[in-house]
Amino acid sequence: MRIKQIEEQDIPAICKIEQDNFTRPWGKGSLEGFVDNPAAVFLKAQINEELAGYCLFLLSFDTGDLYRIAVKPERKRQGVGARLLEEGLLQCGQKGADRILLEVRASNTPAIALYQKHFFQKLGRRKGYYTQPAEDAVIMCRSLPEISTIQKRDLFL
Ligand SMILES: CC(C)(COP(=O)(O)OP(=O)(O)OC[C@H]1O[C@@H](n2cnc3c(N)ncnc32)[C@H](O)[C@@H]1OP(=O)(O)O)[C@@H](O)C(=O)NCCC(=O)NCCS
Repeated sequence: MRIKQIEEQDIPAICKIEQDNFTRPWGKGSLEGFVDNPAAVFLKAQINEELAGYCLFLLSFDTGDLYRIAVKPERKRQGVGARLLEEGLLQCGQKGADRILLEVRASNTPAIALYQKHFFQKLGRRKGYYTQPAEDAVIMCRSLPEISTIQKRDLFL
């Protein structure tokens, strides 16, 4: 598996993963705007020629927001989401972010488990934040000093 920058030609495959994973998928127009955006970290996980998943962070001053992370249904539980998150955190840190914030549906056990495994902590809840279906958001945050653990692992494995 290789983690690479998203290019415009990847957008149709990402749209398909959006449709398979989200009740309100983002369309081509919204996603294309993040390609080559210097404030974005927009990455894909590639297995041979297959785009298996992607993640999107947007940076503002010292904070990165995780907007999207999703994996193809048939590629879940194979470490793709973890690799994307780790590389995304690393690149956000390299671009100057000190902390990462995210919102996640309160019932999204797989994503919450993934984030907690990567040192995110629950900050609070936003009541009725999501629609289709209506649901609270859990707000999670982590600072980036632990990034050194990821860098060391990448260097020595
Ligand atoms: C959340 C998501 C990105 C995880 O991707 P993934 O490639 O399946 O995750 P990984 O295989 O890398 O798993 C890493 C860790 O996440 C957690 N995890 C992932 N899927 C899980 C599940 N179904 N149940 C419980 N924990 C889970 C585990 O802690 C796992 O570590 P482990 O395998 O050692 O137990 C994927 O489930 C997904 O695309 N979900 C739909 C989109 C979404 O909800 N995105 C987040 C909101 S924007």
